[in-house]
Amino acid sequence: MPMPLIRPLRSFLAASAVLAVTGPLSAALIQPGRGGSDELTLSGLFTGLATGSCVHATRADLEALPGVVSLHERLKPELPEVDLRVLPLLELFKSLPPTAAADGIVLIGADGWESFLPMAFVKTYHPYLLLRYDGKVPAQGWPKIYGIKPLAPYFSDISPSLGPKLETPLEYGYNDANQLVEIRAVVTAARYAPFYGGKLAGLSVAAVAGRKTFLRECSNCHLGPGEVGGNVAHRSFQLLCAQATLSKDYFTHFVRNSTLYLPDTVMAPYDQMSPTELDGLVAFLRECREAGVN
Ligand code: HEC
Repeated sequence: MPMPLIRPLRSFLAASAVLAVTGPLSAALIQPGRGGSDELTLSGLFTGLATGSCVHATRADLEALPGVVSLHERLKPELPEVDLRVLPLLELFKSLPPTAAADGIVLIGADGWESFLPMAFVKTYHPYLLLRYDGKVPAQGWPKIYGIKPLAPYFSDISPSLGPKLETPLEYGYNDANQLVEIRAVVTAARYAPFYGGKLAGLSVAAVAGRKTFLRECSNCHLGPGEVGGNVAHRSFQLLCAQATLSKDYFTHFVRNSTLYLPDTVMAPYDQMSPTELDGLVAFLRECREAGVN
């Protein structure tokens, strides 16, 4: 089995070095990893950050930054209206600017979740980082989404008070992220190159549609080509490709009825997915297998 993409935070922090940082990076954010449970790691293409290094910010560091605001709203429809102390990501990026080349960010959850946000999305919709819920830090009791999913240590979403309403599904799946532990600034084309390059440059029309569906519906939780994407599922991309190729009926039935197999799975059943969409997904995974992509 390939190594899970997201190692546990603890070993990640132990392995990552904080190198000397120069430039406009806020001193408040230059912290060695202290291993606290409210540490947020910032990695990738930030100005002044040496390749492969990262910075760690605590909640106190983030709360001290300019640009923290209060909202009074529901975090999710099922939760009550409360005061939320939030730091818009664009404000965070004033203290820690992504490099000019960085045109996207990845929000990484402790459970392996990954939300990819193009920088254009960040600039239009103003997603925020939740610092306090109803005046509380997580240790004082944050709610769970749908009663099961923890939000802490950090949660990111968009708010009608900060930006326009989201009308269309996103190309790269969900924009929100719970259990957020890391924000990585990246170049979109470089991140997704394994989806498009090499042997995957000449996919069939059905497979091209399936690739779109995979990026929109599956990639937050499932590794894709080149192990790009989230890994909540703890399944290799090769396994998905093999299932779609060798056992199409099982694959499509599972996707449509995941909770029949595993009542407690976090993978919601895709019972509304059309046969054409499912065929596209299968075509994409089969052609990836034929191309030897993993
Ligand atoms: C919210 C996260 C999430 C999303 C989104 C998601 N999955 Fe899953 N998926 C999982 C998890 C987790 C498992 C493993 C089952 C478990 O332990 O709950 C899984 C298992 C599977 C399996 C079964 C693999 C096996 O071992 O038999 C298939 C097939 C699958 N997913 C396909 C998909 C496809 C295709 C999509 C997109 C249309 C998708 N999943 C979207 C989380 C997700």
